[in-house]
Amino acid sequence: MMSEEVETTTPEYWLKRWEDNQIGWHKDTVNRFLIKYADELTQGRSSLRVFVPLCGKSLDLLWLADQGYNVVGVELAKQAVEDFFQESKLTFKLEKVKIVAASDPIDVYKCVEKQITIFCCDLFALTAEDAGGEFDAIWDRGSLSAVQPGVGDRGKRYTKHMRSLLAADGRYMLESHHYELDRGNKPPASISEELRREIYGEDFIIKELEVESFAEDPNRQGLSFAYNRHYHLFTPKAN
Ligand SMILES: C[S@@+](CC[C@H](N)C(=O)[O-])C[C@H]1O[C@@H](n2cnc3c(N)ncnc32)[C@H](O)[C@@H]1O
Repeated sequence: MMSEEVETTTPEYWLKRWEDNQIGWHKDTVNRFLIKYADELTQGRSSLRVFVPLCGKSLDLLWLADQGYNVVGVELAKQAVEDFFQESKLTFKLEKVKIVAASDPIDVYKCVEKQITIFCCDLFALTAEDAGGEFDAIWDRGSLSAVQPGVGDRGKRYTKHMRSLLAADGRYMLESHHYELDRGNKPPASISEELRREIYGEDFIIKELEVESFAEDPNRQGLSFAYNRHYHLFTPKAN
């Protein structure tokens, strides 16, 4: 179990966000930084297994599948998963699958038309064994920032879990936010360089890809907070 649960990390919090259609994080376009840095993430390899933690109904799943990758997501809100298939005009087969950490079988959605599988369960309950093996690549957008990595040992626990899901020669790309305003435990969490180093540094070599700064952006004036968006690539350290 989590050492310190905060309200915004509970399943109830996220299920309510979906129920109330409070899903401001969702974009109707594919993440342009995923496209821009896809070669870094995949190392130019084909037929990869790509993991998208806390996938919501992200169109990035579709784009990755359209590049020929075998895409696996995890998402606890059934509504998000079913919206994804419906809005993408794709069909799925629903399977009940027993995973190591849960007593009851979980729902696994397997897309009929494309190589997309979504496990409907808690990220921390899903092991590499359950998912059919370690992944070659992880695309993390809105996942780290949703788990409140600055609270207690949550951040380290998250990155250790990610490491356990990634192959030794795999790559992991992260979008994170950094802002000065104190927003309590509301997602997206602000990830400082210090926190990133603390939680990823033991297991990964950290490479900065790009920082997108909004500090001077007039379009963001009047919004609740100004921030920078960071893109990083993590390579597992040799044991
Ligand atoms: C901030 S959203 C990001 C969604 C997606 N990555 C995107 O870019 O649109 C976080 C998502 O994670 C789901 N979620 C939150 N905690 C989770 C957990 N522990 N395990 C699985 N899914 C979770 C929520 O339901 C929500 O859809």
